[in-house]
Amino acid sequence: NGLEPRAVKDTTSASEDIQRQPFVIGVAGGAASGKTTVCDMIIQQLHDQRVVLINLDSFYHNLTEEELARVHEYNFDHPDAFDTEHLLSCMEKLRQGQAVDIPKYDFKTYRSSVFRRVNPTDVIILEGILLFHDPRVRKLMNMKIFVCTDADVRLARRIKRDTVENGRDIGTVLDQYSKFVKPAFDDFILPTKKYADIIIPRGGDNHVAIDLIVQHICTKLGQHDLCKIYPNLYVIHSTFQI
Ligand code: ADP
Ligand code: C5P
Repeated sequence: NGLEPRAVKDTTSASEDIQRQPFVIGVAGGAASGKTTVCDMIIQQLHDQRVVLINLDSFYHNLTEEELARVHEYNFDHPDAFDTEHLLSCMEKLRQGQAVDIPKYDFKTYRSSVFRRVNPTDVIILEGILLFHDPRVRKLMNMKIFVCTDADVRLARRIKRDTVENGRDIGTVLDQYSKFVKPAFDDFILPTKKYADIIIPRGGDNHVAIDLIVQHICTKLGQHDLCKIYPNLYVIHSTFQI
């Protein structure tokens, strides 16, 4: 009756699509908590996989001239500072197997002027302070990790990073912290911790947590051979099988 072939065709393409879906890991937590460090360690251990790291910073709205003139009054820690629609559209394209151009954000100019080409991969790691804020973004993730680091450690690292790397003066950094960064952490970032599957205390210092995460990813990807490079974990894995 004309309906049957269409139904058969749809089922086939749906199952093919499911097979091609990348494994998406979300890594959230406060600024300077060690998110990037944790992601780099995961990527290093997943050396046989095609992995791409996408930073939420890439989706900061470019500031208008007016906003730039009063940049110290701009809240970079509020959910509205990010172009979530752009992130969603890039992720949708990657899931459909298309390459995307992701902006590279420059903390010194407060702008993204260059792009990098990202090809579809087996594993996509998304990293950013407010990654778990929007339910549509959360829904993209197969695994959600929240990095926990004490506020004084985060502030100390931030002062170092913003003065040494970004050329800002300490007074500005501390003003921004008390006016925007700390309140936004309490109001928007910390409340998203409840969405995490895994909470990592001490960030990149927590090698056990990172080993376990890598083991889980390997299992999900069906790359059991890869896990043999971690003999201790392989034994644990086998024990669980029994
Ligand atoms: P985030 O991505 O959450 O902003 P990063 O991983 O970029 O945090 O870390 C912020 C700063 O702190 C970087 O300069 C990094 O080198 C440093 N850092 C991160 N983790 C550690 C750690 N475990 N020990 C010492 N310094 C660290
Ligand atoms: O990489 P990280 O997660 O630390 O980046 C987020 C932090 O960067 C936010 O706390 C925000 O205040 C800060 N930021 C900034 N200047 C910008 C953009 C972001 O200080 N132009």
